[in-house]
Amino acid sequence: MSIVVVGSIGIDFVAVAPRLPKVGETVLATQPLYIGPGGKGFNQAVGVARLGGDVRFATKTGKGNLGSQARSFLEGEGLLGPLTRQSETDNQVALIFVDDSGHNMISVTPGASADVLPSDVADLGLAEGDILLAQLEIPVATVTAAARHAKAAGATVVLNPAPATPLPDELLSLVDIATPNETELSILTGMPTDTTNQVVAAGERLIAMGVGEVVATVGSKGAVHIEGSGSTKYESLLVDAIDTTGAGDAFNAGLVVGMSRGLSLAAAIELGGQSGAYCVTRLGVLDGLATAEELAAFAASQ
Ligand code: RIB
Repeated sequence: MSIVVVGSIGIDFVAVAPRLPKVGETVLATQPLYIGPGGKGFNQAVGVARLGGDVRFATKTGKGNLGSQARSFLEGEGLLGPLTRQSETDNQVALIFVDDSGHNMISVTPGASADVLPSDVADLGLAEGDILLAQLEIPVATVTAAARHAKAAGATVVLNPAPATPLPDELLSLVDIATPNETELSILTGMPTDTTNQVVAAGERLIAMGVGEVVATVGSKGAVHIEGSGSTKYESLLVDAIDTTGAGDAFNAGLVVGMSRGLSLAAAIELGGQSGAYCVTRLGVLDGLATAEELAAFAASQ
């Protein structure tokens, strides 16, 4: 069973400071600038590959030095392939602040990611039983086109709606499983998501809007699975967070790898939770994406 990830690749510039700056404030960082690969699509594709999933990644790199770096990172992870396209515009970049508690603020300049077109995802080679995993750092029209092809092929569509943006009815109706965090769920539904009951109500609303099921991540509080017939809460592993960047990406990678292994959705959500918890114990996303062996050892030690 193959997994095709459609999405962005970026270069992350990360400043670690005691606290996140307030509006108009300058805060001195306490560690050297971290520069590494990122982008939700890349992170999720790497997460899947390291966990042993059979993955292909459809993306677009940019021009110049950063675009070259992005291609090197793809090559290093075994993800450079026929679905890697090249844009004439700059590569995606993310500016990330991380505080002492591991919380972050991120702003992304999409660059080449905004250039991933429906024509770039016209032939993803998806077959019955495969999984499409997409996010929203590329145009919604492209995600919709990819989801349309996936459904026509009999594949399962998993959408991580990050960053959150209003979604067309067609895309909502093509999504089998949506995986927002609580903030994204609130933006998508216009409902509060501060408590588990509110998350469940908002998840039910998202289902009424068209998606099949919702697996909402709620940070250190774990995840909530909402389906037509009810909801289930999953607790998170208790870890000391260094950097929460990419935790959602690691969760999605674990989730779809579990699904592709034929695990129950409950077991796949558990695997996603372990993967997300491992991720937050490392600075930068790349080091936070575990291999299957690393994740098994980590989970056994908890
Ligand atoms: O989800 C984390 C990612 O979001 C970072 O790697 C950054 O590139 C942004 O796209």
